[in-house]
Amino acid sequence: MSQQLQQWQSEIDATQSIRDLDDLKVKLLGKTGEITSLLKTLGTLPPEERKDRGAEINQLKLVVSDQMDNRRAILEEQELESRLASEKIDVTLSVRPEAVGSLHPITQVFGEIISYFSKFGFDIATGPEIEDEEHNFAALNMPDHHPARQSHDTFYFMPDESGIRKLLRTHTSTVQIRTLRQSQPPIRILAPGRVFRCDYDATHTPMFHQIEGLVIDKDINFGHLKSTVIEFCRHFFEIPDLKIRFRPSFFPFTEPSAEMDIGCDRSGGGIKFGKGDDWLEVFGCGMVHPNVLKNCGIDPDEYQGFAFGFGVDRFAMLKYGIPDLRSMFESDNRWLAHYGFSPFGGK
Ligand code: DAH
Repeated sequence: MSQQLQQWQSEIDATQSIRDLDDLKVKLLGKTGEITSLLKTLGTLPPEERKDRGAEINQLKLVVSDQMDNRRAILEEQELESRLASEKIDVTLSVRPEAVGSLHPITQVFGEIISYFSKFGFDIATGPEIEDEEHNFAALNMPDHHPARQSHDTFYFMPDESGIRKLLRTHTSTVQIRTLRQSQPPIRILAPGRVFRCDYDATHTPMFHQIEGLVIDKDINFGHLKSTVIEFCRHFFEIPDLKIRFRPSFFPFTEPSAEMDIGCDRSGGGIKFGKGDDWLEVFGCGMVHPNVLKNCGIDPDEYQGFAFGFGVDRFAMLKYGIPDLRSMFESDNRWLAHYGFSPFGGK
């Protein structure tokens, strides 16, 4: 019997892979395996021999199983090592162009705008998308029942136990309040993010993206605001002499307030910048209202500033010729392949 055991042990030691070992396991311990067959011979023995012989074969079976487990551990270790050796990744290799995904135009445009403003020392600030009326309206100088609240087509949640009604923020101006309450001037931030309004057609979707800018310091004036946004638009649209005009407007949180238009030509059906006599509204802006500063514990006699806000989706559509806003959010791969951007720069 020990000779037999030696034979099996050397067969186990000779296996070179988990697969070999599995095959051997079937050969010895499977339904018709050698050891299983030995057990089957017990029935042919006289009853007095059966007990000892049975115990002997079961012992053999245990030893062989143990041996196999040991061998399996060694083989697994070897297989892992050779896999680790063969699957080494050289991160310095260039990426295969066919394996690369693309950036959504919104992601691309966020990147372009953030990298422009960060050169001028703007920090990125964020706030929650689920907001309260205080941050979305009241602190922005729109007290209860202020008519401007109605123009926002707000998505409200049911009031909680304490009667507070949460909402999906309708603009990134909420981040002005969060920033002003958390930090001391001088402040220079850009707040990119999602906003929500109950509206849906070719130029409106219930979720869209805005960027808010806020600068607060001593002696900030409307000239700073004008040059900041004019230079940005000329840079963004890559037209150094892009025509720009400011129109007086009204926003509760700025005084004076303005809307900024860029010169364009609509004669050919589409829209072209840098020529023509038409105007397209792109920006809301103004000097931060003293009430907003007061609401955030900042003395308006000491500090002033300007704010601006605009729709990122609109900027992406205008710059990259995307005709319908709704297609941006349909996750259609063909659309993404057409309008997407290489993550390594360029189209
Ligand atoms: N929050 C405004 C909106 O969503 C846009 C806006 C206008 C932002 C003027 C500003 C601003 O910061 O000064 O319609």
